[in-house]
Amino acid sequence: MKKTVLVSGGAGFIGSHVTVELVEAGYDVVVADNMSNCDMTCFEGVTKIIGRRLPFVQMDFCDMEAVNRLFEEYHIDAVIHFAAFKAVGESVEMPLLYYRNNLLSFINVLEAARTHGGCNVLFSSSATVYGEPEELPVTERSPRQPATSPYGNTKQMCEDFLRDAVKAYSEIKGIALRYFNPIGAHPSALIGELPRGVPNNLVPFITQTAIGKRECLSIFGNDYPTPDGTCLRDYIDIVDLAKAHVCAVSRMLDGRMKEPYEIFNVGTGRPVSVLELVTAFEKVNGLKLNYRFAPRRSGDVTAIWADPTLANEELGWKAERSVEDTLAAAWAWEKHLAGK
Ligand code: UD1
Repeated sequence: MKKTVLVSGGAGFIGSHVTVELVEAGYDVVVADNMSNCDMTCFEGVTKIIGRRLPFVQMDFCDMEAVNRLFEEYHIDAVIHFAAFKAVGESVEMPLLYYRNNLLSFINVLEAARTHGGCNVLFSSSATVYGEPEELPVTERSPRQPATSPYGNTKQMCEDFLRDAVKAYSEIKGIALRYFNPIGAHPSALIGELPRGVPNNLVPFITQTAIGKRECLSIFGNDYPTPDGTCLRDYIDIVDLAKAHVCAVSRMLDGRMKEPYEIFNVGTGRPVSVLELVTAFEKVNGLKLNYRFAPRRSGDVTAIWADPTLANEELGWKAERSVEDTLAAAWAWEKHLAGK
C-alpha cells in the first residue's frame, strides 16, 4: 500500500521541492501550511510539475486541535516538519515569537505522532547547530555549540525534543537532517525561493540584484581568515536536498534505521566562498553583478562545510548538481518570477 507523508510548511521553498520528489518517488503527500511566510505560488508550481493537485490543508501547527484533526483525517505514516520561522536577525528581535512558533508547532507534531498510532518524524534542522566549528569539515559527531540566536536555539531544542520523544515513546522514530546552505530552484523554474521583503540569504539577494530589484549586493566581510577573505559555506542544491528527504523517509518507512533517532548532515562537502559563488553566478549566466565589500555581518561564522559521508553511506544519497547548474536554476527562477 502507498504510504502517506505529511509535509508541514509544504508550500514553502524547501517543502515544495520535497513534495515534488516525494510524489515522484511514489508517496502520497498531504501538504499543510499556515501561509504565514509564503503565498500559493510554489504550491501551484508543484501542481503544474506533478500534473495534479495534492490535498492541501491551511492550518497552523501551533493549534493542537487542528493538528489532531489532520491526523484523524489522514493516516499519516511519516511527517516532515518544515513549518517554522527562519530569519536569524528577526529571531533576535522577536525571540518569544520564534520560541512559541517553532517549539510549540513541533511539540504538537510529536504529540500527534505519539497519540495517533505512531509515526515517523523527520525534522528539518540546520548546520547552525555547529556554530563556529573548531574542526572542518563537520561530522554529525562534531560538538554542537551554544546557539548564537533564538532561531538557532529552536533548531537545537527541537532536535532534543525529537531525541527525547523517540527515547520515551517507542511508537515514534525520528531523523534530523542538518542542512547546510540550500540554494537554487527546480529545473522547471516553476518553484523556487520567494523571500518576503529584502532577502537575508545570499542567493536570493544575488538574483534580485541581477534582475534589478536591488541596486547592489553587499558582500559581508572580505577580511576573514579564508583564501579570498570572504566566508566559506557548503551550498547545497535544493533538488539534491529534497532527494535526501526521500532517502531518509524511505529509510524510516522501510525499517532500515539503525537507531530510533538518527542525524545526518546534508551538504556537498565542498566549501565555496561568497566571492566564488558570485563569480560562478556571473560566469554561468553571462552577466555582471553589481557588488561591493561591506563590513562583516554580526553572527556570521567564518567557515563551515559538511562531511557528508554518513548520509552518502547510510542514506545512499549524494549531492549531484554542480554549483553552476544550481546558480543557473536560481537565475531561471528569478526570471520566471519577473515574467509573471
Ligand atoms: C543562515 C543561517 C542558517 C540557515 C540559512 C538559511 C545561521 C548562523 N545561519 O545561514 O542557519 O539555515 O541562513 O536560511 O543561523 N552574505 C553576503 N551578503 C548578503 C547575504 C549573505 O555577503 O546579502 C554572505 C553571508 O555573510 C554568509 C553567506 O553569504 O557568509 C551566506 O549567507 P546566508 O545565505 O544568509 O546563509 P548563512 O548565514 O550561512
